[in-house]
Amino acid sequence: MAQKIDGKAVSAQIKDELKEKVRELKAAGKEITLAVIQVGEDPASTVYVNNKKKACEYVGIRSLAYELPEDTPEAELLALIEELNARKDVNGILVQLPLPPQIDENKVIKSISPVKDVDGFHPWNVGALCIGEPGFLPCTPAGIIQLLKRSGIAIEGRECVVVGRSNIVGKPMSILLLRENGTVTVAHSRTKDLKAVTKRADILVVAVGKPRMITRDYVKEGAAVIDVGVHRMENNKLCGDVDYEDVEPVCGAITPVPGGVGPMTIAMLMHNCVESLHLQEN
Ligand code: GUN
Repeated sequence: MAQKIDGKAVSAQIKDELKEKVRELKAAGKEITLAVIQVGEDPASTVYVNNKKKACEYVGIRSLAYELPEDTPEAELLALIEELNARKDVNGILVQLPLPPQIDENKVIKSISPVKDVDGFHPWNVGALCIGEPGFLPCTPAGIIQLLKRSGIAIEGRECVVVGRSNIVGKPMSILLLRENGTVTVAHSRTKDLKAVTKRADILVVAVGKPRMITRDYVKEGAAVIDVGVHRMENNKLCGDVDYEDVEPVCGAITPVPGGVGPMTIAMLMHNCVESLHLQEN
């Protein structure tokens, strides 16, 4: 039977480590504050934002919630970010994506001060990631690296295949795996003979946004399979981009959905909030 990679347990471990660090920082008179902005009422976004607020509470980080209406003009959001950029008592700023169509997502990402960009989406942080300089790492890919390391899955020298090339997951994931000395291939919707490519993987990371697309014929026997997808099925249960029941008997290790990558994203957001103090020192 495959090793179940337990994101819930690993994220709990990381949050407990951070809770202790935050306690020490508080004793030294340093408090951490995260501003969380949601525009509109997308139900999935509301769930994610609430989970982020809950994690802040657990770890001991102060969270400021900004819930703006769906029709908020772009200028209003940019003005709020400018105000939060200037506030000395705000360490992290997170704008939940996606944003409504009247707001330019890239413009918003670029307006956040790079030293408060705890999502790691600002071009400065993306550039720092590429050349290995200090900066915020994007939470989902950074969480996957932690999940692999803390589950005893080696990356160095191994064949890593990332399926998907988004700015939030696929691209930064490939760079982080490279940084860990993996041999990295990025596959995507235009890849010819995708199965032949994914079957090479010792570590297969899937972030395609298609429910249960990856079946056992995409997976090498014994591979570690990381599923970034989250989809709600007709029966109201969640599933990933990987067909878990089909793949589990042939792979060596696999993340469940829910309870795999999802909780790690939030744990790494908390990590970035703590890290922000170092980046804001100079
Ligand atoms: N929407 C989906 N994933 C994310 C994330 O990691 N951060 C933000 N801000 N929005 C998201």
